[in-house]
Amino acid sequence: MSDARESLKKQALADFAEYINPMKVRTLKSAGIDIIEEKREGASTWDITGRRYIDCQTGSGIMNVGRCNQEIASALRKALDTYDMGVFLLCSRQKADLAKKLAEIAPGDDLRGVLFGAGGGEANDAAIKLARGFTMRPGIVYTEKAYHGHTGFSLSAIGREAYREPFEPLMPGFTMVPFGDLEAMRKAVTGDTAAVILEPIQGEGGINIPPDDYLAGVRRICDEHETLLIFDEIQTGFARTGKMFAAEHWGVSPDIMTVAKSLGGGIYPISATIFKEDIIDFFIPHPFIHLSTFGGSDLGCIVGLATIDYIQKNRLAERAEAMGARFGAGFDRLLGLYPELLLEVRRKGLMMGLQYTNESIGPRLTKKLADRGVLAIYTGNDPSICRFMPPLVISPEEVDFVIEALDGSMKELSKESGIGKND
Ligand SMILES: Cc1ncc(COP(=O)(O)O)c(C=O)c1O
Repeated sequence: MSDARESLKKQALADFAEYINPMKVRTLKSAGIDIIEEKREGASTWDITGRRYIDCQTGSGIMNVGRCNQEIASALRKALDTYDMGVFLLCSRQKADLAKKLAEIAPGDDLRGVLFGAGGGEANDAAIKLARGFTMRPGIVYTEKAYHGHTGFSLSAIGREAYREPFEPLMPGFTMVPFGDLEAMRKAVTGDTAAVILEPIQGEGGINIPPDDYLAGVRRICDEHETLLIFDEIQTGFARTGKMFAAEHWGVSPDIMTVAKSLGGGIYPISATIFKEDIIDFFIPHPFIHLSTFGGSDLGCIVGLATIDYIQKNRLAERAEAMGARFGAGFDRLLGLYPELLLEVRRKGLMMGLQYTNESIGPRLTKKLADRGVLAIYTGNDPSICRFMPPLVISPEEVDFVIEALDGSMKELSKESGIGKND
């Protein structure tokens, strides 16, 4: 690595620490992932010093189509010759086209209304506003370990105290239940409940896959009380789990679905709240009740359409299934080899999590993996869980590289003292 590049890196980290957040720099350094990204391509990202990493973090799932996807980048470049973001108060061809496409690919036949935003939290805020506005009820039920974003309503539905406590009192009317527990859900939902909000598979909470009857059971409970069901598909959507949307695995469709992250193709922020036709009844008399200056900008919509087109044309859902199975076989082998480190593998397509035997393992393995050219980070909710969400375009050879890196890292870690089930 050249001295010039090394000093560019040092300077970027020093400036970041001085002007943004010194604690973040310290934490990333100690985890061995103080990477300053430069080139990005396919499943890889390169540090400014030239070091290559297979990216299994991908901004928690914003790069389903791969890093710096050139087909999508050219759609954006071409659009820039003619368009800008557009005037949010006007109607636009681009917004109409993307809304129509989202309605076409959403699960079920009746998710047909779309509100655009610029980020995931904003999409969930809009979902909760729609649910309260439409039902005229106050109650929102959400799940333990849920992650829905840091904006107002979404923060009130986050199932982790550390994110919430400093900002209390949060929104009234929110009730938390354990994820996957139908009995608890049955007790919590009443005639005052506007909506239940949940991720079909919890991402930030540790890749928690619900029991097979859970989503259908929650759907039934909601129907009994005329409560709306909101699925947050922000992390699970756009082919990540082997289907276009994760809810399709269980054949359940929600009343409102939120999407963001990979809709922007990794290059342009955009989100959407997609809802059932009759909920539009609430919105039509109030067309300006929920506004977002940057939400569904013309450029964002062009990128969103190009992204969906790329996912469909390249059959990325099938690819997620196939590459996920290859990862699964590798993880199962490691489960046999390192029972003192690895407790469980949780996986649907390429939404994957490794449950380690204790919390000290997550940070230590993240560092060892980075030393071997793999970027995979333990979850914010629980350092004993490492999430693997590589781009869906990852090749078989790259999958094998990640498994080999894990094997080498675990071998080294299991030799070190103080690690294992019993410490
Ligand atoms: C499931 C889920 N919902 C909502 C969000 C929030 O999205 P954003 O950070 O774009 O506001 C995230 C972000 O990680 C997420 O994973």
